[in-house]
Amino acid sequence: MPDIIQLLPENIANQIAAGEVIQRPASAVKELMENAIDAGATEIRLFVNDSGKALIQVVDNGQGMSDTDARMCFERHATSKIKNIDDLFHIKTMGFRGEALASIAGVAQVELKTKRADDPTGTLIEIENSLVKSQQPVAAQNGTTISVKNLFFNVPARRNFLKSNASELRHIIDEFIRVSMAFPELFFCLTSNGQQVFHLEKGSLKQRIVQILGSTYNSKLVSVKEETDYLNIYGFVGKPETAKKTRGDQYFFVNNRFIKSPYLNHAVMNAFSDMISRDSFPMYALFIDLDPSRLDVNVHPTKQEIKFEDEKLIYAFVQAAVKHALAHFSVSPTLDFDLDMAIQQTDAVSQPFTEDKKLAASSSSLYQTFSQKNQAHFIESKSNLTGWNDRISVNTGDRIATQHDQKEIESQDEWRRGHDNLMSALRIAKPESGTFFQLHNSYIIAENENGFLGIHQQNAHERILYERFLTAMKGKPIAAQRSLFPVTIELTASDSILLNELLADIHLLGYLVEPFGNNTFIIQGTPADVIQGNESVTIEKLLEQYKHFSSDVKFSKREKLLRSLAWQQSVKAGTSLTQKEMAALIDDLFSCETPNATPSGKPVFLEFKKDELDKMFGR
Ligand SMILES: Nc1ncnc2c1ncn2[C@@H]1O[C@H](COP(=O)(O)OP(=O)(O)OP(=O)(O)O)[C@@H](O)[C@H]1O
Ligand SMILES: [Mg+2]
Repeated sequence: MPDIIQLLPENIANQIAAGEVIQRPASAVKELMENAIDAGATEIRLFVNDSGKALIQVVDNGQGMSDTDARMCFERHATSKIKNIDDLFHIKTMGFRGEALASIAGVAQVELKTKRADDPTGTLIEIENSLVKSQQPVAAQNGTTISVKNLFFNVPARRNFLKSNASELRHIIDEFIRVSMAFPELFFCLTSNGQQVFHLEKGSLKQRIVQILGSTYNSKLVSVKEETDYLNIYGFVGKPETAKKTRGDQYFFVNNRFIKSPYLNHAVMNAFSDMISRDSFPMYALFIDLDPSRLDVNVHPTKQEIKFEDEKLIYAFVQAAVKHALAHFSVSPTLDFDLDMAIQQTDAVSQPFTEDKKLAASSSSLYQTFSQKNQAHFIESKSNLTGWNDRISVNTGDRIATQHDQKEIESQDEWRRGHDNLMSALRIAKPESGTFFQLHNSYIIAENENGFLGIHQQNAHERILYERFLTAMKGKPIAAQRSLFPVTIELTASDSILLNELLADIHLLGYLVEPFGNNTFIIQGTPADVIQGNESVTIEKLLEQYKHFSSDVKFSKREKLLRSLAWQQSVKAGTSLTQKEMAALIDDLFSCETPNATPSGKPVFLEFKKDELDKMFGR
């Protein structure tokens, strides 16, 4: 038998490795921007065409490269950032693997123009599918311009896998924001298909946050700042009133690197817990700085997950720092300081950090508390309902995603349909017309032939609206009423892309919204039966809710829109209803195809049977 094992050719090895590092245009954007930062650039310009599918170009004024380095940088494992294994644990740069450019060059056509300040001329190099096509001297500005064309041109499976332009552009914007937020002292701009989306002047962190997330945060940011020997935390959290229905505006940076950490997110949510409703998400941009040797950044191909030496301690710091900040700005006068004080007294905080101290801290009573109630991945269950209702809670908020979720989410739609039919089959008798009682401005008690129903008014209304919208989508659009005084709204760049995507469907639901350039939209009309005057809030809330669904659940675009709007327009719990309104609600509810549950599967009513009541009373 001949030997059968062979080394893969370099370009194939690069292509395979690229699968990990470069998943979509946004990944290339992140890598190129980080390289520019590592090169000491003070101005970084990003240009994309066709959402990065046709072109991603990053222009920086950093240190540039020599002729030889310009070729070397595309080799796998070629880096100027670390030299030995020790360096890996003292990383101050964003890059360290020497993988990014090799990966990009393996799956695209790349042009690199670069010049160092001391060199008379620059160099231009063209590379495609990992092969150098040409290199020549050129006149160039100091710094580096790298253009990535036709990403995945040689990996059709990958290219076909890319999402719509709007969705890929949103990913790019997300990455652009994550990098630019961490470096407010640098200038950044983003131009998409020739249109400028962001222009971020150098400034303070606060200015940068407002530039990126919008001026609504202007006077609504609370500064967080705690310094200890072990770590420093600084940044901002939004005042509780700015909390949104979507977890969009939440950013953690560790040593200026954006990371995703459901665990630390939970620490912030806990700090806010009494101040915001359970289904809303506070804004935060928090920066944790600590000795690089206390963390491992090399645990994930995109570096967005990291491992802390002592996770629980970080959790405690984050939570305490945010609580402290909120209390300090007297946002909540009733905050308890116990936790805060306790943390200040742990050895880890009050004295220089040593192994001994760490041991001492971990046996302190505070630490014990954390490892019980607020420990890693401890999430209080939202309800003790079991069975179907549990499964639905996947879209309800602060929870940690597990690997099983994806499948569960995908099968959810199908499952929901089954569930709807099942519930219909239970056949609940429609309440007689007569007198209805409203309890706590939230529940309607209505008699029917079997006993009585306790109806949740908001859940009921959500169901009614959802079915009404569904009919509108199927060909009976909801009539719009033109506004006498059309209002305009200005959105953030990413919201504006989102709204553009939804315009056609929103139209069917009675909202006449037209793009007006520069992330501005003009609202020409609203559904005839919706009171006018609140149009811009309606659209903003709709987008928030829509994003809430987008981040958590994989429903179709329309499904998400319908659910968002139904939730948003529904009469909320706590609203007093007249007899007439209750009667109309019940009438509408029982004309629904599936009156028993909200679109997301919450029960609309419970039936209390008379014979069972009789039994309970010994009759
Ligand atoms: N914009 C730039 N300006 C100057 N030098 C650059 C630039 N981009 C890349 N380089 C050089 O090319 C090398 C390779 O870049 P590449 O992104 O592939 O690897 P890295 O940044 O070292 O590590 P990582 O794979 O983690 O990003 C860098 O180490 C750096 O020396
Ligand atoms: Mg890099």
